[in-house]
Amino acid sequence: MKRVSFAEFGGPGVLELVDAEEPHAGAGQVRVAVRAAGVNPVDWRIREGQFQRVHPIELPAGVGQDASGVVDEVGEGVDGVEVGDRVFGAGSSTYAEFAVLSAWARMPEGLTFEEAAGYPSVVETALRIIGEVGVASGQTLLASGASGGVGSAVLQIARDRGITVIGTAGAANQDYLRSLGALATTYGEGWVERVRRLGRVDAALDLAGSGVIGELVELTGDPGRVVSIADLGAPELRVRFSGVAGSMPGALAQAADLISRGRLHIPVERSYTLAEAAAAHVDSQAGHARGRRVVIV
Ligand SMILES: NC(=O)c1ccc[n+]([C@@H]2O[C@H](COP(=O)([O-])OP(=O)(O)OC[C@H]3O[C@@H](n4cnc5c(N)ncnc54)[C@H](OP(=O)(O)O)[C@@H]3O)[C@@H](O)[C@H]2O)c1
Repeated sequence: MKRVSFAEFGGPGVLELVDAEEPHAGAGQVRVAVRAAGVNPVDWRIREGQFQRVHPIELPAGVGQDASGVVDEVGEGVDGVEVGDRVFGAGSSTYAEFAVLSAWARMPEGLTFEEAAGYPSVVETALRIIGEVGVASGQTLLASGASGGVGSAVLQIARDRGITVIGTAGAANQDYLRSLGALATTYGEGWVERVRRLGRVDAALDLAGSGVIGELVELTGDPGRVVSIADLGAPELRVRFSGVAGSMPGALAQAADLISRGRLHIPVERSYTLAEAAAAHVDSQAGHARGRRVVIV
């Protein structure tokens, strides 16, 4: 089968489309014939070797953790899913013709494979951090860097829970944030005052790692009401850095429910072929997404 792989850490140019052995579903896993793979910033961070100290991988390695596809192998001990089911979920080496998933859910009716591949990691992250920051219905949540994959999910999940959201993004994404039900303003010079004019902030999420932890603490008045997913320096200001958690299966079920009820839609900004994986990484690394990018297999 074909898969995107890299044999050394480095820039997007290290990605190659190669012939590889097909993976097989182990206990508790399923294998899918991949129809689309989500492109997440973690994919290029791993390709650059950023996680080697904490989560070392061996080379050559495949790329990608999110996928949608059709189940074609069911591992030992797995119930409730059959060969031929259309699923979306998370696993490893998903930029490939076949991939093994360790968490999955049935795709909601009406969702395309292309769209479905964009949900798993961003929805798991959004649900996790909304829970960790402890914001409740009737309160206001500030999301710094709100137009990307995670931000798009945070805005809509918060709206579904009766939480008011103020989002920051670039000038080109202001109407996009408003279309997702948020109050919007731009980041950059004077942004703290612009946020204050939009309302009181009860809790805040740093989704862009743009060096604003101090300002988010100032706006909420409490480091315990701020969570970052992108600034490893956050704990120095007593702010929680939220990393990977094991909540993917539950998150996928919640995503399917929200999508079915028309409460969550993450647009696909652009699709790429497997051979264009390096271009997908270049675009993701530029850091200005609207929704999610996907690789079509
Ligand atoms: N720790 C975890 O569990 C976890 C999980 C998922 C993701 N992450 C990390 O979280 C970050 C966001 O992920 P993502 O998938 O949402 O990324 P993404 O889709 O690439 O979105 C990036 C967002 O950042 C905004 N942005 C760019 N420069 C900014 C600035 N100076 N100030 C404020 N916002 C700015 C962009 O807005 P414009 O396009 O409007 O400029 C865009 O909304 C990445 O660094 C990723 O690695 C961490």
